[in-house]
Amino acid sequence: MSGHHIDSTLSLLVYGYAWAPDLRRAHDGAPVVHTRLMGRPAALLHGLEAVSLFYDETRVERHGALPPQVLDTLFGRGAVHTLDGARHRARKELLASLLMSPVAVGGLTARVESGWREAVPRWEGRGVVLFDEVATLLAGAVCDWVGLPVPEEAAREIGEDCVAMVEGFATAGPRHARARRARRRQEQALMDAVNRVRAYDPKLVSGTVLETVALHREPDGTLLDPHTAAVELLNIIRPTVAVAWYVTFAAHALHRHPGHRDQLRTDGSDGPAHARAFAHEVRRFYPFVPFIAGLAARDLTFAGDQLPAGTLLLLDVYGHHHDPALWERPYHFAPERFLGREPGPGELIPQGAGDARTGHRCPGEDITLSLLAALASALARTDPAVPRQDLSIPLNRIPTRPHSGFVIEVASRMDKAELKSARGR
Ligand code: HEM
Repeated sequence: MSGHHIDSTLSLLVYGYAWAPDLRRAHDGAPVVHTRLMGRPAALLHGLEAVSLFYDETRVERHGALPPQVLDTLFGRGAVHTLDGARHRARKELLASLLMSPVAVGGLTARVESGWREAVPRWEGRGVVLFDEVATLLAGAVCDWVGLPVPEEAAREIGEDCVAMVEGFATAGPRHARARRARRRQEQALMDAVNRVRAYDPKLVSGTVLETVALHREPDGTLLDPHTAAVELLNIIRPTVAVAWYVTFAAHALHRHPGHRDQLRTDGSDGPAHARAFAHEVRRFYPFVPFIAGLAARDLTFAGDQLPAGTLLLLDVYGHHHDPALWERPYHFAPERFLGREPGPGELIPQGAGDARTGHRCPGEDITLSLLAALASALARTDPAVPRQDLSIPLNRIPTRPHSGFVIEVASRMDKAELKSARGR
C-alpha cells in the first residue's frame, strides 16, 4: 500500500495547518490517510481511537520519529521527547517532579503575575506588541524560577531566542538558520550554568530547578552529560516562553468576544472557573501544535488498515479540535463548553494525551493553564485599547499568530483619571 504515495513534505510546508484537513477531505474523512513525508512512508491518524493507539507505548515509539531539523531547533538532541521505555520513564520522573506540583505551578505563576504588574506602567502611553512583551516577561519569570535570575534586557534576549526556536522548526531558510543559532547560544549558556553548579560547595545547594537537573543522577548513578542537562533545562524555559502564543490568542479572543472580558475581570467565586474554561477553549480553538509524531513500534492494524513497523505516524492535533464529529460547532469560540468540568480522556489534546507522569504527555500542562488563566485575566483587567491593525492569523504558516503580534495601548494613569472624572461629570 505504502510506496505508491506522493511525498507530501512540500505541500505540508506550503499549506501548514490546512494540509491535514485537506488531505483527510480528499480521502472522505478517513481516520487514517497514507502518504509520504521526508521520503518515508507516513500515515496521518485522526480521532479518539487514534489518540488511544498513539499513547500505547507498546504500539508507538518516539526514538527516530523527529527529523534532525526539528531536534536542532525545537527540542534538542537527546531530549526526553525522543526517549522510550525505561530511559524515558526515568527522565520523565525528574521533569514531572519539577513541573507538576502545585508549589511549582504556584511559584512560577506568582512570578509571572508580578512581572505583569511591573511591566504595565512601562507600557503606558505608547503602543506595545503584546506577543513580544509577554515573551520577555515569561522569560524573566521562568529564569528566576529555575534559579538563573537575569536583568530585563537579558530576559528579552532569552525570550527572543526561545521564540526563534519555535518559529524556525518547520521551515527552511533564514527563520530556520536563526532557530539553530538561538538553540546553540542558549544550550551553551545553560551548559555553563550546569558546570558552575557542579563546581559548588554542596553546602551551598538550595534545591533550585537548575541545581536539581545539574545534580540529577541517571539510573546507573552517573550525572547527565552537561549538554543533555542543558537541553532539558531549555525544555522547561522554551515552552514556558511559548505560552506567549496562547496569551496572544487569548487577547485576540477577548477582542473578538468582549463579553468574556467581564467574566475574566471578576475576582468573585466564578472568576477562576471562567478563566480556566477560557484557557481550555483558547487551547482548543487556536492553531498551535499541528500534530504529534511517533513511529509504529511493530506492524500495526488500525481502522482496518495496515501500518507496517517503522511507519511515521502523525496524530492530527489541529484537526482533532475542529472535527464536527467530536465538537458541537467547532468553529465557534465557546469557553462554556468547559465550564465546571475538566475535559475527558483524549478529548482535548493540545499538549498530548494519556498520563503525563509516565507517558509523553506534556508535564507543563498545569503550568500552561495557570499562566494562561492568570495572564488572560490580567489582560482583561488592564483592558488596553486595541488600535486598527492586521489581526489575521494565516493558516499556511506553522507556527502562526495574529499578523501584528497584537498591538495594545495602555492609557497612562493620568489619562485614566481624566477619563474617570469626565465620566463622573
Ligand atoms: C505553550 C504551551 C505548550 C504546548 C502547546 C505544549 C505542547 C506539548 C506537546 C504537544 C508535547 C508532546 C506530547 C507528546 O509527545 O505526546 C509536549 C511535551 C513536553 N512539554 Fe509541553 N507544551 C506547552 C508548555 C509546556 C511548558 C510550560 C513546559 C514546562 C515548563 C513544557 C514541557 C514539556 C516537556 C518537558 C515535554 C516532553 C514530555 C515527554 O516527552 O515525556 N511544555 N508539550
